[in-house]
Amino acid sequence: MSNPIQLPSEVRAALLAKHGRLRIMLAVIDRLASEVLAGRKIVTVLEIAVGNLRDELQIHQEAEERALESVLPTIDAWGPVRSAQMLRQHAAEHAELAAGLAEARGEALARAWPTAAARLRKHMDDEERGFLSGEVLRDDVVTVGPTS
Ligand SMILES: [Fe+2]
Ligand SMILES: [Fe+2]
Repeated sequence: MSNPIQLPSEVRAALLAKHGRLRIMLAVIDRLASEVLAGRKIVTVLEIAVGNLRDELQIHQEAEERALESVLPTIDAWGPVRSAQMLRQHAAEHAELAAGLAEARGEALARAWPTAAARLRKHMDDEERGFLSGEVLRDDVVTVGPTS
């Protein structure tokens, strides 16, 4: 099983790798949704692809929430209160993203796809600029109390 103690850089690398896989799935589904809207009879393929994405996303979200719960409170610049607030907001956003992928079927899914994909891409972009950035998840940050 996985090692419960991970360095911030290891947490970051694992989550970024998963983001890379999710982005590939998003790009494939972009094509499938466009083809459905162009009239190709591949709605079932699109639904299966979105179902696979939903499963991958759920695994990623759970892993991300667990990893960040253990690592964010150790980030000196933020401290436990801000970390707890961010983790709550982040989990709520995950639930919204998952719900957005669960609703539509068939051609409605193809029409709704660009919005759902844009939200998911924005979520990943935002977290890579925020708590998954190399400046936040650094191994050399030591909690030493307030700095001037
Ligand atoms: Fe996330
Ligand atoms: Fe993520």
